Formats: sequence, structure tokens, C-alpha cells
Amino acid sequence: MPTATVNGIKLAYSDEGTGLPLVFLHGFPLNRDMWIPQIRGLGDRARIISVDLRGHGESDAPLWQYTMEQFADDVAGLLDHLDLLQVVLVGLSMGGYVALTFSTNHSHRLKALVLTDTRAQADTENGRENRFQMAQTAYRKGPSAIRDIMVPKLLCPKTLQSNRAVVEQVEAMILRMELSGLAGDLMAMAGRLDSVPRLPSIRCPTLVIVGEQDQPTPISDARLMADRIPGARLEIIPNAGHLPNLEQPELFNDALWRFHSSLV
Ligand code: MLT
Repeated sequence: MPTATVNGIKLAYSDEGTGLPLVFLHGFPLNRDMWIPQIRGLGDRARIISVDLRGHGESDAPLWQYTMEQFADDVAGLLDHLDLLQVVLVGLSMGGYVALTFSTNHSHRLKALVLTDTRAQADTENGRENRFQMAQTAYRKGPSAIRDIMVPKLLCPKTLQSNRAVVEQVEAMILRMELSGLAGDLMAMAGRLDSVPRLPSIRCPTLVIVGEQDQPTPISDARLMADRIPGARLEIIPNAGHLPNLEQPELFNDALWRFHSSLV
């Protein structure tokens, strides 16, 4: 497993294939293993880099405040480490919040942007209160309680009923989370800025993807981004919830590949 020392911590990442790099940012409370179907499906056609954000997977999980800005700076530091000037950045859900922050703070490094199952709006007051409650649950009961809350939200009913392998993969990623990472993510998400006013100033080619049955970030959130980012395309993946890359990997990879091919 390659690692990079970035902003004083160790970040774990995978780097396979050649060509215009696609850099994948996972959601909460997951890790880079969620991109295995993309490495398998696209790794012979593109360079695929996936990173464990701080607090996740095999990266360090320091006990301190996390922010979207810091996650975005970590991604920029990884690109420096890899000597990459520009990449296609793919962010799912929390990874999308990081990608939107990156598109403001490091816009010159974006060849293109893929925002999947995410939203541009900040948390509502109620949403922030829920983050606080979830952090208390994690503190008192550990990651298994977070698994019980999150799995039914992340996957659509069909996946839950008939795709045991995906359910188990998602559960394993959640159970691996450390408390510092869980609380750090929740604080970062609660404190993130509203990206809606910045959407019209995104200048790079952008693809928005959403699972048809996504609960946490439904189609209306995806449409809002696609409508406001100049020239953005929208792809809706049928029979998928919040994790279409795992639930319908072939459809997801096809959508991503069509976009990627249009860039080179
Ligand atoms: C995620 O999948 O990253 C989370 O559902 C995002 C969120 O809770 O806002």
C-alpha cells in the first residue's frame, strides 16, 4: 500500500493504470475500498487513484477538528506527492463536498469534475443537530451503531435485499472507522460552507451522477448542481441508492467513461 506524508499525516492511496488520472474521493463513513469496482472496470483504460481521506481506512486518523478545506488541502498535497498538475476529480457524497471545496481552493488543478450523490447546500440547523447526535452515538456505542443507522440510508431496497456482497463490503468499511475519524467527518460536514453561490463559477467540464433512489442526496440535489454549473451533464443511475458505483458498477463506469473519453 503506497502512502504519502501530507500536512503532517500519513495518507494511504492506490494508484493503478496510465493516462489522464481520475482521482476518487469516498463518502462518509467509508474508505477507498468503495472504488474497487471502478479500479476493476476502468483500470485498464485510465489511471485510477483513490485515497483514504484522513480519519479513514489505512490513513492516519488524528484526534482533532477536521474541515472540508483541510481534506481538500490533503488531496492537493497528494497530487504534489504524485507530481500531478491536473486531474479529473470524482467525489461521492462527503467526497463531493471535498471536491466542491477543492474546486474553489485549488481550481487550477482540475481538468474536470465529477460530483456523484452529493449536494452543494450546507447543512440545515436540523442537519447539524443530527450530526451532533450521531457523534454522541458513535462515542457511546461505537461504529456498529453507525453501521445500523447508515447502511439502510446508503443502499437502495433492492441492493439491501439481494446483494449481500455489497452490503457486507459497506458494513466492513464502516466497522473499520475510528472514533476520531467519525467525529472529525461529522464536524467537517456540519461546518461546511454553502457551495450553491459558487456553482456558476465552476469552469471545468462537470458531470453530475446520482442514484435514482438516493435518499441522503436525492435527484433534486443533483439537478440543482447540474442546472447551475455551466455546461454540466446529469446522469441518473437506475436501481441504485446513494452508492451507485457499488450498486450498479457497470452503469456507473459507463457513464464515467463516456465523460472521461470526451475530455481527451
Ligand atoms: C456520505 O455518504 O458521505 C454522507 O451521507 C454525506 C452526508 O451525511 O451528508
